[in-house]
Amino acid sequence: MQRKNKTLGEFIIENQVEFQYSTGELSKLINAIRLAAKVVNHEVNKAGLIDILGGVGETNVQGESQQKLDVLANEKFIQTLTNREIVCGIASEEEEDFISINSQDENHQNKYVVLIDPLDGSSNIDVNVSVGTIFSIYRRITPIGTPVTLEDFLQPGINQVAAGYIIYGTSTMLVYTTGHGVNGFTLNPAIGTFYLSHPNMQFPETGKIYSVNEGNYTHFPQGVKDYIKYCQREEGDRPYTSRYIGSLVSDFHRNMIKGGIYIYPKSSVNSDGKLRLLYECNPMAFLAEQANGKASDGFRRILEIQPKELHQRVPFFCGSRKMVDKAENFMQGKA
Ligand code: AHG
Ligand code: MN
Ligand code: MN
Repeated sequence: MQRKNKTLGEFIIENQVEFQYSTGELSKLINAIRLAAKVVNHEVNKAGLIDILGGVGETNVQGESQQKLDVLANEKFIQTLTNREIVCGIASEEEEDFISINSQDENHQNKYVVLIDPLDGSSNIDVNVSVGTIFSIYRRITPIGTPVTLEDFLQPGINQVAAGYIIYGTSTMLVYTTGHGVNGFTLNPAIGTFYLSHPNMQFPETGKIYSVNEGNYTHFPQGVKDYIKYCQREEGDRPYTSRYIGSLVSDFHRNMIKGGIYIYPKSSVNSDGKLRLLYECNPMAFLAEQANGKASDGFRRILEIQPKELHQRVPFFCGSRKMVDKAENFMQGKA
């Protein structure tokens, strides 16, 4: 059992031994993400002051023009990872194409690529509700020392080396996995240090919360409609509670702690759903499986889907194992 007052820095060093032949490169990369998280946290915390310090598109008192927070978060993460020469490529939900990073130092021929959703749940910023950042790390496929190609990013989720999220909530947390369980760290903003607060996080096997945007109900597939009616029926431990923040990170985080299911299905208007396989679903699916949960598109395991394009979308059912099983049964006409 992990001691709770350990810092993220200590934890990263101690757990480096889990990786055979580790060169410390992944540890350095997670350290860089930790730093970027603190920078973005600072910006997110200032969001409510935007009317005082200057709104989007205006110039602030320092003469800097204000940017939308998702653009800013994107820049901060890319800058931090690029400056530290820690990855060979980055793909971001905010960028049309991937970025290839050529290290100046030939001794630093990095082998990892990072994919990010720099600001998830961005519609919540203006109303002071939790948002997040999602990251996903892969080992490149093409040879080290050459420029990265699309192939390095279009890997199935099972190839992920690490994944995690930062939740900018009532407190700021960094939650991540390297394939050895899921651990959560809470930021002490006074001293800028993350502490291990949630060791070995696990989804309860089942739960009583369902999270879906029911405003889209009429457009949902019949299986999802039936599952929602099942959740609402008075029977056994039901009806369940409906909770939907509109920020995947926050909905996932709550469901992992309390037990629940998150659903973003396809609909008659969005044939593949809305969420992005590479920046949102794969990292969350890796975390879910590492925390004894499950992630599916209603029919297939998310982590086994072979991506075809960077910004590919996919229907998403994720959470407590028994709840995802049940929703799949409805989708497949077996319920
Ligand atoms: P992003 O802010 O990165 O575009 O992601 C928003 C995503 C996800 O976090 C959230 O659960 C979902 O979109 C909400 O979509 P709806 O408003 O359609 O429910
Ligand atoms: Mn998102
Ligand atoms: Mn986003």
